[in-house]
Amino acid sequence: MTTVLIKGARPYGEGDPVDVLVEDGVITDIGSLDASEDAEVIDAGGQVLLPGFVDLHTHLREPGREDTETIATGSAAAALGGYTAVFAMANTDPVADNAVIVDHVWRRGQEAGLVDVHPVGAVTVGLKGEKLAELGTMAKSEARVKVFSDDGLCVADPLLMRRALEYSTALGVVIAQHAEEPRLTVGAQAHEGEQAARLGYTGWPASAEESIVARDCLLARHANARLHVCHVSTSGTADILKWAKERGTKVSAEVTPHHLLLTDERLATYDPVNKVNPPLRTESDAEKLRAALAEGVIDCVATDHAPHAVQDKDREWNSARPGMLGLQTALSIVVETMVRTGLLDWRGVARVMSERPAEIGNLTDHGRPIEVGEPANLTLVDPDTEWIVRGAEFASIAANTPYEGMRLPGVVTATLLRGRITAREGKIIP
Ligand code: NCD
Ligand code: ZN
Ligand code: ZN
Repeated sequence: MTTVLIKGARPYGEGDPVDVLVEDGVITDIGSLDASEDAEVIDAGGQVLLPGFVDLHTHLREPGREDTETIATGSAAAALGGYTAVFAMANTDPVADNAVIVDHVWRRGQEAGLVDVHPVGAVTVGLKGEKLAELGTMAKSEARVKVFSDDGLCVADPLLMRRALEYSTALGVVIAQHAEEPRLTVGAQAHEGEQAARLGYTGWPASAEESIVARDCLLARHANARLHVCHVSTSGTADILKWAKERGTKVSAEVTPHHLLLTDERLATYDPVNKVNPPLRTESDAEKLRAALAEGVIDCVATDHAPHAVQDKDREWNSARPGMLGLQTALSIVVETMVRTGLLDWRGVARVMSERPAEIGNLTDHGRPIEVGEPANLTLVDPDTEWIVRGAEFASIAANTPYEGMRLPGVVTATLLRGRITAREGKIIP
């Protein structure tokens, strides 16, 4: 029996510090407790205790690009970032569009043993947008796929999207859409606005995202299906989500840390570390996204952690791959943009980083309340300490962080997966 005693933590940052006892993966007591001899003690010193974070949107690059991230290194980055579960996107090579690949990803995640790695299944065969993948087989496989997405690409064909939504209801799964009307983003390099115009980049208009989100909300309502919108980036999308939710559409949405903080002002750096899909938008978009997250119009934060090799990223803007790392900086960016601004308290952080993503991803053992009898998937956060981002020090193989050298608030000091300490003081506990 493994026993961990967390001494003097403040669940949800509320009230006086309490001790939390974890035995065999479950919270068994909360109060003023003495450590038994065999207990491993974490001295929390009044730090904030939260349910372990859940990331609905991670790219782990295995199989295919193990030179940039593996399931093991991505799991380590996740644990260090306070995560206990991540959903690994299907745009690997080969694509995770069948039971063999998703089961392989699931097993590799279990072997790494640091976070639960839930494979996302592709919606269409080979992400080609032509023919539905075997969603049912993946949903019933060992990996029990709960989320399907062609992320990286949009399921652009409305009939195919309609069919996917219809099947998803029957299977009790959710379709996560990368909303990008491809006909409107041919050659697109950056947000279509003043900055891109000034630098001569082909624009990626807000309407390319919004038109798909609006369409899919209508399709989801018609099919009475659940739709999840990936990486919301525009103010207009927030308006559409609000409208759709008010009329009872079963739609949920995520925003990335980088869309909460960064804007297309970054284009002036010419540094492709800032190139991402959807692109960094304007300050008024970012402001609207922060408000929508606070209000619940946007349900949760997802990293869209996208590792890339130096040779794919560090080249002239137009040929650089889009995407940026996120797992080890997400909490800090949320503290910076949402907590320090007073938009969210720690209960709110638990909601957007753990509870809602777990619900959306159909996980029953993550995002649970910090109460006796609940699984001990927990994250301990030092809310005030600041640290300086160094991409080279991340557990990820790639180092493409847009926050390099920045001083950020909020440090994850411990992560527990089913009562086992996976990360402690910035180190992985194997
Ligand atoms: C992602 C990737 O690299 O796989 N890139 C990105 O810019 N976000 C794909 C995606 O999320 O669309
Ligand atoms: Zn995407
Ligand atoms: Zn993605």
